[in-house]
Amino acid sequence: MTGTTGTFTSPPQSYWLASTTSTAHPALDSDITVDIAIVGGGLVGITVAYLLKQENLTVAVLEADRIGQGTTGRTTAKITSQHSLIYSKLIKRLGLEKARQYAQANEKAIRFIENLVNTKKIDCDFSPQAAYVYTREDQYIKAIEEEVSAAASLGIKAHFVEQSALPFEIKAAERFDNQGQFHPRKYLLTLAKDIPGGGSQIFEKTRAIDFQEGRPFTIITDGGYRVRAESVVIASHFPAYGGDGYYFARVYPERAYALAITAQEQFPGGIYIAAEPEGQSLRSTPYNGGELIIIVGGRHRTGQGPPMEDHYRSLARFAEQTFSVTGTPYRWSAQDYTSLDELPYAGRLSPNSANVYVATGFRKWGISNGTASALLLKDLIVHGESPYEAVYDPARFKADPMIKSAVSVDVDIAVPPAHGKFERLPTGTEPAPGKAMVVAGEKGNLGLYKDEKGIVHAVNLVCTHMGCEPVWNGAELSWDCPCHGSRFTYEGDIVEGPALKPLDSKGDRYNP
Ligand SMILES: Cc1cc2nc3c(=O)[nH]c(=O)nc-3n(C[C@H](O)[C@H](O)[C@H](O)COP(=O)(O)OP(=O)(O)OC[C@H]3O[C@@H](n4cnc5c(N)ncnc54)[C@H](O)[C@@H]3O)c2cc1C
Ligand code: FES
Repeated sequence: MTGTTGTFTSPPQSYWLASTTSTAHPALDSDITVDIAIVGGGLVGITVAYLLKQENLTVAVLEADRIGQGTTGRTTAKITSQHSLIYSKLIKRLGLEKARQYAQANEKAIRFIENLVNTKKIDCDFSPQAAYVYTREDQYIKAIEEEVSAAASLGIKAHFVEQSALPFEIKAAERFDNQGQFHPRKYLLTLAKDIPGGGSQIFEKTRAIDFQEGRPFTIITDGGYRVRAESVVIASHFPAYGGDGYYFARVYPERAYALAITAQEQFPGGIYIAAEPEGQSLRSTPYNGGELIIIVGGRHRTGQGPPMEDHYRSLARFAEQTFSVTGTPYRWSAQDYTSLDELPYAGRLSPNSANVYVATGFRKWGISNGTASALLLKDLIVHGESPYEAVYDPARFKADPMIKSAVSVDVDIAVPPAHGKFERLPTGTEPAPGKAMVVAGEKGNLGLYKDEKGIVHAVNLVCTHMGCEPVWNGAELSWDCPCHGSRFTYEGDIVEGPALKPLDSKGDRYNP
């Protein structure tokens, strides 16, 4: 795809998606009743459905598109309880007990995945790996030392090291042994095979668009059908239904970019993340008898920051400075949500929703945290309790002074983004091929994109979630909402996020 820094000749494509076949589960075409309805077929939805079916409950997974094609199909898929520098912060904020709960829930999730892979013989390129948080800067050495002590105090065997096998000098690193990596879609698609049958089903191309609390809980789909269930799990990444949980003010979306390169050198093994926020995450994966090296970075709040295509270019520069790059067959980007205190929300949707459960806010650690959440939700639904419910409890802010931060995050997400916005141009102007612009329409701003065939696609730039103005994402050719991360194609269709309706589209009949 590229050999020269920043010259990409084909559109982004996730290796995980490109190397697996798409699923073809039917769309829902009648009203149904099940024990548990699950909204969303990503890692969380499929894992929880798999676990609940094992408990002899009937489940229906409702997936808006195809399973495993959301963030789970675009992740880095490192499986670790080492979530950058987290434990020293957690101990200070929440105390030893809750920090230990978090560490144990994630360690248990790793072992759950490993055991399942081994017992079911899942062919998903799983391999045990040592995980590292590394720094190339003196100022992070102390933080890494503190993190090693913090993790050790929670029972994790953490090591302080001053060297790594990476092909660049580091100042220090924290190492956790016995962590892992896998191919996330090969894993998820294998679990999904066990779900249909015995009254349980997966429905694709079936978006949940309306929700009526009660017993049974009723979900209405975009096809107009009703799913009645004793309990509901909202596993749609951003909660498609939030009840009175105010999730839009309690999580924010952040994107990051991945390059999958081939190189002359062999990757030394291990899974890595920089302590510096602007640093890179690295791993490798088997590919055509050799390997791909996956480099991830360029994190930013969705819909904010410099032109998004710059992130691919700067990763390509890093790749070429670090490895003898022979090709970049794949590149992709994705987003994940972060909560106010950096811990996921997994549990009862709100104190008033007795039979509705949610899991979100994984801060780019949702392979382990998402699996931990699925295990927790299964325990809550089946046994009424989980050893980890306190630390993941979505209602924890009710009693937490950090509610103040909730306000500041909400204010922050309401501020219009400084970049990515276009000057409002008079009607009659149109973009160059492959470019986008914003013009003043009769009822507000219109977003225009001119495709390579010269057709101009126009959409009303009013997000159908809560009315913010989406901005152009030149890396993925999408309109991205800076408020809560809804993303739309240039034709207005939903890509991801909380929006339940497409952007109002002027179609390709727009005539400037
Ligand atoms: C760049 C990047 C790298 C990452 N790397 C790692 C890593 O190395 N290790 C790690 O642990 N974590 C990592 N993560 C995080 C992890 O990948 C995610 O947290 C996890 O995949 C989220 O899974 P999910 O099931 O919640 O969401 P998704 O996989 O997004 O699934 C949600 C599904 O819900 C569907 N949906 C949405 N709305 C509706 C609706 N109304 N009706 C029906 N269906 C709906 C969507 O179509 C989607 O398929 C990374 C994240 C990013 C962005
Ligand atoms: S995603 Fe909430 S307003 Fe756009």
